[in-house]
Amino acid sequence: MLKKEDAESILKKYNQEHLLKFYDELSEDEKKSLLEQIENIDFQLVKDLYDLTKTEVDFSNQKLEPMDYIDESKLKDEEIEKYKKIGEEIIKNNQLAVVTMAGGQGTRLGHNGPKGTYDLGLESHKSIFELLCDNLKRAKEKYGVNVPWYIMTSKENDKDTKDFFESKNYFNYGKENIKFFKQGELPMISEEGKILLSEKGKIKEAADGHGGVFEALYKNHMYEDMKSKNIKMIFISGVDNVLAKLVDPVFIGITIANNKESAGKSVVKAYAEEKVGVYCKKNDKIGIIEYSEITPEMAAVKDESGEFLYGESNILCNLFDIKVLERISVHKLPYHIAHKKANYIDENGNEIIAEKPNAYKFESFMFDAFEGLENMLLLRVKREDEFAPVKNKDGVDSPETARNLYNNYWKK
Ligand code: UTP
Repeated sequence: MLKKEDAESILKKYNQEHLLKFYDELSEDEKKSLLEQIENIDFQLVKDLYDLTKTEVDFSNQKLEPMDYIDESKLKDEEIEKYKKIGEEIIKNNQLAVVTMAGGQGTRLGHNGPKGTYDLGLESHKSIFELLCDNLKRAKEKYGVNVPWYIMTSKENDKDTKDFFESKNYFNYGKENIKFFKQGELPMISEEGKILLSEKGKIKEAADGHGGVFEALYKNHMYEDMKSKNIKMIFISGVDNVLAKLVDPVFIGITIANNKESAGKSVVKAYAEEKVGVYCKKNDKIGIIEYSEITPEMAAVKDESGEFLYGESNILCNLFDIKVLERISVHKLPYHIAHKKANYIDENGNEIIAEKPNAYKFESFMFDAFEGLENMLLLRVKREDEFAPVKNKDGVDSPETARNLYNNYWKK
């Protein structure tokens, strides 16, 4: 393990000496854990990321084109049947795995605990995790198999998530069918580029974004686990869409029948300025263009049938052939900067409670990995059937809107 003197010289080099300011006040265990944290931080990366906060990103040299998609609602019944059959074969042969990304902080929702543990307020009082698990239980009933479920947590919420599953007896889905794995994290820094302390002996770190899923699957040996189970296809989605179809035979079948190594689901953008990322081709590669990167004119442009040319919103539901995931997992993804509120301990040892954004957090996005894909099938699905996000405490994309969408769907 790193010695205090070694830590001092690293910190000096990067102008972060304040991190050891309270070292002598710490217990032996706290000292050890702080040195461990310092050892594991890539200070050069943190410095580079801070420099990035001072640079304007120029999107003007991007060549953008719309991406082809298939509209599921326009498929003929016999096509649906054909794809369903192919997908069902994969499921019945136990070749599908499901990954849920639940490492986010859920700051906008403001729930005290991991987002998946949130009670959506349905009559059943089921948590979001349980609503997702229902998909797997229905698949079990229908196909007689346990689809393995891999849940990505963060260092921050790992214990609470596992304790919750334990307390709910894994929703009777079987502990052996559920695996947790932790994603990476990065230090948060002040507006002056200083790494923050959350306690006198603890560096403030935050999960490194949903793009961390690929590296986390790899580093935690989840691919090996999947391969030992003979998994072929992997479905990945976020924790916060309570209508996500975790086991969708048509989606699997259409991907395989079209010889695609990956697939994504989209819903039509509701209105031109909606703050969503949309699927597109960026410099001839598969990508997502964020609402912050697109001009208002481009966001509003329509095709000859009156539909948005850039209108296929990303709902964070993707399917990959396992071989592809392994391939793209070795690529380093870029980090995006988020200006956030962060409480911290200042250099005098006082706790500072943030009233407004005062710090930077760095996240990689899952879709930045798409440029490493050779092909992707994009399937447009119906928003009301597959997209009920829980993001904000109230208003749009809140528990109330998600609850209504969920109830309407199941009434149907
Ligand atoms: P969001 O970008 O909506 O972030 O995540 P969030 O953390 O849930 O919420 P806010 O922004 O703090 O309010 C979309 C999905 O990606 C997962 C989230 O758990 C959610 O399912 N995610 C996000 C991770 O798993 N890890 C991360 O580091 C970030």
